[in-house]
Amino acid sequence: MPAGLGAHSVRAILEATRDKHGLTADQVAWFVRGVVSGEVTRAQAAAWMSFVYFNGLSTESTAALTQAMTESGDRLTWPDDGRPVIDKHSTGGVGDKVSLVLAPLWAELGYRVPMISGRGLAHTGGTLDKLESIPGYTVDLDVEQLTTILSSVGCFISGQTGELAPADRLLYALRDETATVASIPLVTGSILSKKLAEGLDQLVLDVKYGSGAFFKDWESASRLAESMQSVAGCMGTPTRAVLTPMSQPLGHTVGNALEVEESVACLQGNGPDDLHDLVVALAHHPEADAVLRSGRAYERFCRMVQAQGGDLSAPLSGLDGVGEHVVEAACDGVVRAVDALSVGRAAFRLGAGRERAGATIHPGVGIRVHVKVGQSVVAGEPVFTLLHADKGLAQAQSLLAAGLTIEPVGGSSP
Ligand code: URA
Repeated sequence: MPAGLGAHSVRAILEATRDKHGLTADQVAWFVRGVVSGEVTRAQAAAWMSFVYFNGLSTESTAALTQAMTESGDRLTWPDDGRPVIDKHSTGGVGDKVSLVLAPLWAELGYRVPMISGRGLAHTGGTLDKLESIPGYTVDLDVEQLTTILSSVGCFISGQTGELAPADRLLYALRDETATVASIPLVTGSILSKKLAEGLDQLVLDVKYGSGAFFKDWESASRLAESMQSVAGCMGTPTRAVLTPMSQPLGHTVGNALEVEESVACLQGNGPDDLHDLVVALAHHPEADAVLRSGRAYERFCRMVQAQGGDLSAPLSGLDGVGEHVVEAACDGVVRAVDALSVGRAAFRLGAGRERAGATIHPGVGIRVHVKVGQSVVAGEPVFTLLHADKGLAQAQSLLAAGLTIEPVGGSSP
């Protein structure tokens, strides 16, 4: 039992959660401290999360869970210099390169953006993996370096430093093992504990729905958005949640170096419309569109990359030497689906994502997606270009074939 906190019993907390009797904030905080100290066993923690998975948690208990998880580790603080501190979190998608564009854009608009990002998870890409395709770019910086870069450049995008929300590391691993990831209170605690430990004045949440997203339907995504918004609000961080579709990939590229290339185009004012529009919507600033079109955010991006050791004058890693395979439209028609999950899985098969934590990825492989839903195509026109390194090509091709629907002119597709 957690040392010095003998007022509660693990068994009573498990029974109350199982039987939907509700928990006090004190009980939840006590339980989380016990998970981190090891005095609540893995079996007890896993049982508790499965009760939460099936029965849910009240908003008050979810807030207590989030607070206890946030307080389980280091909390970053930034000296006040008059510029608000803001960050964005996306629940994950395919071709979602928004962070690479939004962080420097916000910095250019007068915010400070201490963006702590993650690596790819299953079929969804990770911001750190993308940025590491820039030669020299480092995501391992200590707090002193981060503080200097945040003050001089206005933004950084780095990996976790020290022990941010260690309770989440433990609980997330157990959820993964016990198939209890997709629970609104548990996702709320997991995401917010990491973001709120970043010392923010404001948070923006990009909650995805659709085949390539974690929550597939609008209703569940909307319940998650409401939960995160109200809990973050209770904890004193004003939070705006935006629900965005993830049924087809964002932009025209999926894969690490390819997505950096497309982000640079967007920062220079030449990005695909869907990416540009989503960045502007999330930035939520009257000058966001004009600044992004002007290319000024690109200069800020260059400063950030340089401050983190990256060399944008060198070719992106991995693109040299990959093979290209073009997939053509089989008939004249209108594109009805470019399924995000299939494209994400295809990129994963080519080596853009990890089979398991710590495995290596190939920065150069991926997919150029030439078509969008609603677009007319003619037979023989390229619909995808696969950049491959002799791994997973056949599987990727069949995933893409299954994910693309073209309605033939004058008739319906099967
Ligand atoms: N991402 C997280 O960080 N946590 C979750 O629970 C789900 C997605």
